[in-house]
Amino acid sequence: MSTDLFKDLVSHSKEYGFIFPSSEVYDGLSGVYDYGPYGVELKNNIKTYWWRSMVQNHENIVGLDAAIMMHPKTWKASGHVDAFNDPLVDNKTSQKRYRADVLIEEGLEKIMAKAEKELEKARKRFGDEFDENKYKTENQRVADYIKQHDHLHGRFVTAMGKGDMPELKLIIEELEIADPVSGTRDWTEVRQFNLMFYTQLGNIAGEEGKLYLRPETAQGIFVNFLNVQKTTRQKLPFGIAQIGKAFRNEIIARQFIFRMREFEQMEMQYFIQPGTEMQWYNYWKETRMKWHLSLGTDPAKLRFHDHDNLAHYANAAVDVQFEFPFGFKELEGIHSRTDFDLSSHQELSGKKMQYFDPETNESYVPYVVETSIGLDRMFLAMMSNAYTEETVPDADGKDSTRIVLKFHPALAPVKCAILPLLKNNDDLTAMGRKIFDDLKFSFLCQYDEKDAIGRRYRRQDAIGTPFCVTVDHQSLEDQTVTIRERDTLKQDRIHISKIQGIVEEGISFRSLF
Ligand code: GAP
Repeated sequence: MSTDLFKDLVSHSKEYGFIFPSSEVYDGLSGVYDYGPYGVELKNNIKTYWWRSMVQNHENIVGLDAAIMMHPKTWKASGHVDAFNDPLVDNKTSQKRYRADVLIEEGLEKIMAKAEKELEKARKRFGDEFDENKYKTENQRVADYIKQHDHLHGRFVTAMGKGDMPELKLIIEELEIADPVSGTRDWTEVRQFNLMFYTQLGNIAGEEGKLYLRPETAQGIFVNFLNVQKTTRQKLPFGIAQIGKAFRNEIIARQFIFRMREFEQMEMQYFIQPGTEMQWYNYWKETRMKWHLSLGTDPAKLRFHDHDNLAHYANAAVDVQFEFPFGFKELEGIHSRTDFDLSSHQELSGKKMQYFDPETNESYVPYVVETSIGLDRMFLAMMSNAYTEETVPDADGKDSTRIVLKFHPALAPVKCAILPLLKNNDDLTAMGRKIFDDLKFSFLCQYDEKDAIGRRYRRQDAIGTPFCVTVDHQSLEDQTVTIRERDTLKQDRIHISKIQGIVEEGISFRSLF
């Protein structure tokens, strides 16, 4: 998908009631969005699919809905007060603010793009004879690019790991990074910026009353770990799943709903015996990739990416990346968090966070592997995956262009549209209404009698409705209707008693598991 198509997708999302900028009448609020009537349905369907996969399909995973606000000490123990920072740099000329690590990553990508350009030329010149590995070492220019990249990348990873801000500034200078707005290299020093939002609790002044909005849902799970384990009599390994809002004061919130300041996470913490973490880490990597693939996403658009810089709590971490319209980016994270969080809470609260293992007769702090996916990012992935412009025959058999959202039917906001052929025929509209009234208890339907049938089909295509049922003159005689399938455009004539079964089978989550 090109940048232009991405712009089209953003305007389509607004025009068809999926996503609106927050408080748009006041020109919006950067990094904050509202979900419209179809957006909320798509979002709820994604949540349902995730919840069923995690909680309903695993006897040893249970749910939780913890509060957004937590005791301030939570965030001290979790390390977020001290370490949840991004490196920030300003351009003095444009007064624009950037994430230093993002500028550097982009600079490094540019070097590799130069090497790739040379390699591409050589591939064309030498054809089948081309030995890429040999060329990379023997062609001086390519070898220099790769050497420069690897050297600076190594320094970058070390600097990020140590929180060495002056070193990041030096790397920006060595990469000769210019501000895309002013074109100058007039940068301030690089400094740490904590991403947590905070407010004040009641009338308690100062640090004591500083109340953070959670930057991840996970901590609500950690502090409730023993409450849940005891009340559900779970044995290790077991998991706790949660869907909820998280807040991050992102330095730059951009790319539509990709990076937001208020967003939603679907997280699952899996509590395990120490020493088994790599086994479970690999299990969840594989399980989560299968979940993504089950929705029909092209496997070429999904890949794993190991973290260069581990978060303060992790000893292994991988992203599931999706090829968004602006390139491969993180969609979900799978992290081996060791006993970092539970041990820190145990230490700061003075309360035991230990599990008594009846098999070994020992008490210990469990280790944790987590899966953490951004609901809004999953929404964007599904929208960009589904968005298609194509030429199809219209009702008269002539070619016409349609925009269609080819969601998996289980995720589609509206499942079935009921369309009487003519608006001013009372018998047709009454029959259409009756069908609608019967079906509305089973799944979300729309009744639409306005405009020519072709236009109504296009409206349903644009919101991704998998089935359209048309009531025509023959329906009045023999109680049959036509049912049109969104992607194939195939139309079948069926008895009205069959509609519910066909739609239910098509939209079922069961086929995904
Ligand atoms: N508990 C672990 C954790 O929060 P993370 O990698 O920082 O890990 C997990 O975030 C997921 O949350 C990401 O993979 C992404 O999908 C989503 N996410 C993170 N920051 C986001 C933001 N500013 N806007 C939208 N989604 C975000």
